[in-house]
Amino acid sequence: MDNINYLNIYNYINLEEKNEVIEGLVNVGQKRLDSKFFYDDYGSKLFEEITKLNEYYPTKTELCILEKQKKLINECLPSSASIIEFGSGSNKKVKKLLNALNNPVEYFPIDISEKFLFENAKDFAKIFPKIKVTAICADFHQVDQLREIVGKKKKKIGFFPGSTIGNFMPEKARKLLENFSYILGNNNYLVIGVDLRKNKKIMENAYNDSEGVTAKFNINVLERLNIEHDAFFDLKEFEHNAFFNKKENRIEMHLVSKIRQSVDIYNRKIDFQKGETIHTENSYKYSKEEFSILSEEAGFKVKKVLTDDKNFFGVFFLKVKVKKEEIK
Ligand code: TRP
Repeated sequence: MDNINYLNIYNYINLEEKNEVIEGLVNVGQKRLDSKFFYDDYGSKLFEEITKLNEYYPTKTELCILEKQKKLINECLPSSASIIEFGSGSNKKVKKLLNALNNPVEYFPIDISEKFLFENAKDFAKIFPKIKVTAICADFHQVDQLREIVGKKKKKIGFFPGSTIGNFMPEKARKLLENFSYILGNNNYLVIGVDLRKNKKIMENAYNDSEGVTAKFNINVLERLNIEHDAFFDLKEFEHNAFFNKKENRIEMHLVSKIRQSVDIYNRKIDFQKGETIHTENSYKYSKEEFSILSEEAGFKVKKVLTDDKNFFGVFFLKVKVKKEEIK
């Protein structure tokens, strides 16, 4: 196949990762781990399973919006554009987006899970032989390098589906949007999926599925620390807990220590009280208005918001409306 290239610019931050893990766990207050640790190869596969669960409505709803509203999507996005997907996972959603566009020329999937990324990019390149694919293994905070790789003189559409933006605290989410606008450049577009606030039970069930896949996904983080970070967590002694925090407008995901215990990591001891938790993820739920304000604060103009009949999920079409020197 000659329409695919692979780049890996991610590996060099592993040393920083060690410190990040330790800092989060020795924290005297709430222990924390960054949610990027979910997405190793096995974690990415488990997440794929989550997206197919009955209770997990966001993926289905977003796919449905992208599928059913092709005409509206086509109207507000440019033709002959390069598509840059931040956290590309299985590429399922971008295929729907591409089907709605005129003559997309290039696709840059970006993900931190290397094997998963490269395998999916290869399949993608076969299905879309006319599109030039450059798979980039990177953390999407590697702004300057990414900006360089995707190039400046192009019509660009950034794509950030799955409500991944909800996994950042609002202040960080705004900074991330600013970084995206810097990577994309003025007058280019960002299509971004956002889970909207709704009935608490529906939201909570999405993160506490009856088959226990989300629990497995959460626990996998500890397994990963055992394998990659010299840790000795006893997986049986932790359990998954997810609930809606009404004050913060977010689903919180935790790993709860079932007993009082201490765990070794990099030759340090981390003490857990019974019931003490590691906070592994947030998933903020916005209203349409709140997310529009956040986008505008980050320098975007909201061109259109598509939702489903129940207003469960929003796909926002944003246009970069700020000069680069105002960002950096
Ligand atoms: N972006 C997804 C969300 O917030 C991520 C996610 C879904 C997730 N289910 C999860 C993260 C379970 C951790 C655990 O919905």
